[in-house]
Amino acid sequence: MDLRKRFKDVFGSDPVLVSKAPGRVNLIGEHTDYNDGFVMPIAIQYSTRVLAAPRDDGNMRLYAADFESEASFSLDRPIVKDDDRSWSHYEKGVVAEFLKRGDRLKGADLLIQGDVPIAAGLSSSASIEVATAGAIKALNRIAIDDLDLIRLCQRAENDFVGMKCGIMDQFISCLGREGHALFLDCRTLEYEITPFPSDVYGIVILNTKVKRELVGSEYNERRFECEKGVYLLRGRLPGIRALRDVSVADFDKWGRELPPRIRKRCEHVIRENQRVLDFRSGLKQNQRDRLGRLLVESHDSLRDLYEVSCSELDVMVNIAVGTDGVVGARMTGAGFGGCAVAIVQRGTEKRLEENVMRQYPAKTGIQPEVYVTAPSEGASIEFFK
Ligand code: GLA
Repeated sequence: MDLRKRFKDVFGSDPVLVSKAPGRVNLIGEHTDYNDGFVMPIAIQYSTRVLAAPRDDGNMRLYAADFESEASFSLDRPIVKDDDRSWSHYEKGVVAEFLKRGDRLKGADLLIQGDVPIAAGLSSSASIEVATAGAIKALNRIAIDDLDLIRLCQRAENDFVGMKCGIMDQFISCLGREGHALFLDCRTLEYEITPFPSDVYGIVILNTKVKRELVGSEYNERRFECEKGVYLLRGRLPGIRALRDVSVADFDKWGRELPPRIRKRCEHVIRENQRVLDFRSGLKQNQRDRLGRLLVESHDSLRDLYEVSCSELDVMVNIAVGTDGVVGARMTGAGFGGCAVAIVQRGTEKRLEENVMRQYPAKTGIQPEVYVTAPSEGASIEFFK
């Protein structure tokens, strides 16, 4: 699709820039970000593009090229949701957050198009937010640094869309680096760009094609359960602010006093944080078996303790770990459907793909999708000449 031509057809003018932001796959550290913990995602080669041009009035016009759907609103009136065009909530949320900061915005025409699989747990929403924010920032020459832009996008999702997500997705979409995984401390927002040895390992994303409507409410509920765990553990560990502050040793000592469900949620988060640290060192020391073990432990914990997997994800992970050349595999993202991620010995990607294409439909009746990927570059902006 020639997006510049499409822009002109829709809006009658030429775009001045394109802002691009990728989706992500998280290698390890699931449901840890909103507990002030650690994560280790990569940006993927699928992304959202927002083409943009300024307008002379105070109106915003949006066109979602993939849905051939238009939405418009005025910058001078309160921005509200439109459930018939729920795709526009991400863009609207971003604009609303700029206005809340007090930024003066010109009207604009935006064309949005993307190839990040939607509702698959690969952060198509964060990629839309970051690409939109990049376009608004560039069009209006707003002085905002990366960290504030990332936080703005997260608030758009928390407050406008209503999903109480953590900061991981927006962060990696903005700051991903080709050939590298990103180790992020979600409390301090300090991060380390960690080389991913693409000559040794390949990354394969396995889409179960299962979409769970409940993901939003279940997600917010898990968050609440973690907060409750912190509140209760504070009786024994007065200094803690988040589950991040609870060591595995402290949990072994006091965790049994928690109600069973809260205990399981806390145990997952506390041990998952440690797994991220171990994974980072395993990656640096090229300890294949250790990496594989950590991935599988993470999946088991998400299935049994955090209870965010589903039978199709479990089937997918089982097929993967039973395939020669696979180092390890786990569900990735919020869960309740979506994708699993597998790390494989380089050169065996095809074998895994073939195995999944044969076995998964036979076991579930569903046709999966498989994407071979590699760590890609984060968001960028290009001005047209
Ligand atoms: C979603 C959220 C992230 C993170 C993951 C689970 O992708 O947007 O902030 O919490 O789920 O790790």
